[in-house]
Amino acid sequence: MTDDGKTGEKATSGRGRRDLRVRVKTAKGRKLSSTLWLERQLNDPYVSRAKREGYRGRAAYKILELDDKFGFLKPGVRVVDLGCAPGGWCQVAVARVNALGERANKPRGTVLGVDLQVVEPIAGAVIHQLDFLEEGADDKVKAWLGGRADVVMSDMAAASSGHKQTDHLRIVALCEAAAEFAFDVLEEGGTFVAKVLAGGAEIGLQTTLKRNFTRVANVKPPASRPDSSEKFVVATGFRGAGIGPGDSPDGEDPVQ
Ligand SMILES: C[S@@+](CC[C@H](N)C(=O)[O-])C[C@H]1O[C@@H](n2cnc3c(N)ncnc32)[C@H](O)[C@@H]1O
Repeated sequence: MTDDGKTGEKATSGRGRRDLRVRVKTAKGRKLSSTLWLERQLNDPYVSRAKREGYRGRAAYKILELDDKFGFLKPGVRVVDLGCAPGGWCQVAVARVNALGERANKPRGTVLGVDLQVVEPIAGAVIHQLDFLEEGADDKVKAWLGGRADVVMSDMAAASSGHKQTDHLRIVALCEAAAEFAFDVLEEGGTFVAKVLAGGAEIGLQTTLKRNFTRVANVKPPASRPDSSEKFVVATGFRGAGIGPGDSPDGEDPVQ
């Protein structure tokens, strides 16, 4: 990789075998963290696969892998995707729930996405720009949805503050807001999927989820980078509105 970011010579290992890892040289004005990020992107098989397969980002494979394991994105289901930009999860959901009606013999589902950022339109999905934490945001989403959802999924992440504990608390707050929304709009039997960071403060969230769903699994899909503390909760079998705080939770599955 040259200073202007173009790929250059590939390194060879000491034993003469070609090491196919792309190296990125530091450049004037580029921080070491940016150099390392670029190098990681260029060597990440999920990044190149996403480009090849037309997904807007490698994140698409996380929801694909979670759905392969739990099977919640069935044709005909209604999905809400919170924090959907740039749109990889929506692309996966549109295809799997048959939102374009491409499989004529299967029921047609719906996909609604919201994000702080503007999202390039995705055929088959309805997308709105919205801060999910603003007053009344949940009512807006419910109005756009026009009924209950079968799946609420959230890959929301706050911009990094550089302070691990602060970032952790922010993502837990986003996840708790998403869970509250899910309790409000999910159809009985529905599924809630959300990104959390391992780190302790999510224990309250886990307890609430266990009270409201028949099964709560904590999963680290292969597409989630091993060096990140990110994991996903997949809560299935929503018990329906009106679950009281005294109801005893089921046992929680360990991280799978
Ligand atoms: C990791 S990205 C989501 C990637 C997405 N799942 C995909 O496959 O393309 C996290 C997103 O959460 C969004 N986000 C963070 N806080 C939010 C909030 N309060 N309201 C709405 N979106 C939010 C960010 O703007 C960002 O686009």
